[in-house]
Amino acid sequence: MGTLADDLSPDSITRALATRFTGRKVIHLAAVASTIDEARSEVLSGAAQGTVVISDKQTAGRGRLGRTWLSPRGGIYLSIILYPAIDDFPYLIMVASLAAARAIKSVTGLQTQIKWPNDILIDGRKVGGILIESGLQQVTGDYAIVGIGLNANVSAAGFTGVALPATSLADELGRDVSRLELVRKLLVEFERLYLSLPSEAVFQEWRSSLVTLGREIIARSGERVYQGTAEDVASDGRLILRTRDGSKLELAAGDVTLSDNRADI
Ligand code: BTN
Repeated sequence: MGTLADDLSPDSITRALATRFTGRKVIHLAAVASTIDEARSEVLSGAAQGTVVISDKQTAGRGRLGRTWLSPRGGIYLSIILYPAIDDFPYLIMVASLAAARAIKSVTGLQTQIKWPNDILIDGRKVGGILIESGLQQVTGDYAIVGIGLNANVSAAGFTGVALPATSLADELGRDVSRLELVRKLLVEFERLYLSLPSEAVFQEWRSSLVTLGREIIARSGERVYQGTAEDVASDGRLILRTRDGSKLELAAGDVTLSDNRADI
């Protein structure tokens, strides 16, 4: 895999891209520890909103909850720098996962589902993930780095020891996909959704894409384990869990992992 002519140079990503600011500046690296860390150094030197750091591989890719994100050549590993209004922060996971789902559908025809809060699945197997890190920079203000990883032209059979069963777009299609087309579409969809914030429509589309709702789940938050029905999501993205004794809990994405090795909820 990885044989398709597939140039991710800044010029090929940016040329005639239908965005106002997202991907207007692209930093493309052959390899990096994590594009999130690279993006953070860009923030510290005053990078513009919408700057994208993309790498052909990551040697220390990070996932949620301290996990490793396997990042061999052939995948898509990018981070977008944003300076969102404070009220828009909770929507970023929704925007990123919907943009990834829309880009995959449009470029490959494959239908994805979202596992709360932001795992991108195809038939219960994980094909992509999102990690958002935020902070305060003195000059630019509150920033968010939206890290998106997609298993594009990699073989997920080699992904052993990962938390959920994995797949890739190439595994699903039996052929490589254009990473360039995917990245361009992803950036366009991302900006369109981002510019609509705050948006009830974004929340409702994300909510209706979740395969988690209505399912029995086990949620782990630190040492605590909760069991119950994933009843709904709140407008700030928290998962509303109805436990067996009838009480209601709201769980924040940053702290929670759902059940062990079950990707289909
Ligand atoms: C997850 O599902 O746990 C989130 C995975 C996020 C992976 C992306 S790849 C680009 C960016 N750089 C990283 O080190 N992680 C994110």
